[in-house]
Amino acid sequence: MRIPTGIEGFDDLVQGGFLSDRVYVLSGPPGSGKTTFGVQFLAHGAALGEVGLYVTLLECPQNIINDMSNYAMNVPTLIKMQKLLFADLGPRMEYGYMDEINEFVTTDYNLGKSSTESEAPSPSIVFKEIAAYVSEYDVKRLVIDSVSAIRFTSKDLSLQEKEMSRFIRNLKKLGCTTVLLSEMTDPTAYSTEQFAANGVIFMHNFLYDKTMTRAIQVIKMRGTRHDCNMHNVSFTEKGLKVEGYLE
Ligand SMILES: Nc1ncnc2c1ncn2[C@@H]1O[C@H](COP(=O)(O)OP(=O)(O)OP(=O)(O)O)[C@@H](O)[C@H]1O
Ligand SMILES: [Mg+2]
Repeated sequence: MRIPTGIEGFDDLVQGGFLSDRVYVLSGPPGSGKTTFGVQFLAHGAALGEVGLYVTLLECPQNIINDMSNYAMNVPTLIKMQKLLFADLGPRMEYGYMDEINEFVTTDYNLGKSSTESEAPSPSIVFKEIAAYVSEYDVKRLVIDSVSAIRFTSKDLSLQEKEMSRFIRNLKKLGCTTVLLSEMTDPTAYSTEQFAANGVIFMHNFLYDKTMTRAIQVIKMRGTRHDCNMHNVSFTEKGLKVEGYLE
């Protein structure tokens, strides 16, 4: 079954949307639109009645909620309706961490003994917390921001790769369509999560002829006849919009 992303112009590149219950990686440099894509994907599903969960591991959910509320995606309403959930599963690193934030985010499960002061949560704890949300709220669309936080839980490189593969393999069994956001530092080197995922999308944001150019590109999408080219991307009042080929 195809899951329309709700991102104008994107679904046309991928035969109508993502395949349900699969895991996709969305990679891109800072400010390229990863969070916007993720929230737009969840808000679209939420408007259709499918519960969406945005998991933050590095960023505070309140900042994302504030930024995304500027777009016509009905984020505050969908949150009130409990169709759009935000869960902060990252380490509590902020000075004077504010409890008021829990007005806007769903309550923690407190499974995460490791989610304490300055301590990175282990991938298995993060997964268990996500799985608990998914079953309790019948989550159909999931975004994890970002997968790099999973990678940085171990200093040992081979352990990092093993943990990442295991994390993604487990996500595939969750029964929801997942978008993993990942910071792209080197566009020429592919990572474990990109190999393990069912699909990989790149967001580009680069300087060309003295102007910053934004583009999106589907690198792989298993089981899908997809467009491989770079397409222009713009920000509208509704969020991201995918346009024609990048000339
Ligand atoms: N109306 C708008 N409101 C907010 N951001 C906008 C707007 N229009 C364009 N932008 C752009 O969106 C960018 C932020 O997009 P987004 O947060 O989705 O990127 P990101 O890839 O998640 O970034 P990061 O790697 O820092 O998390 C801003 O840097 C800005 O250039
Ligand atoms: Mg972001």
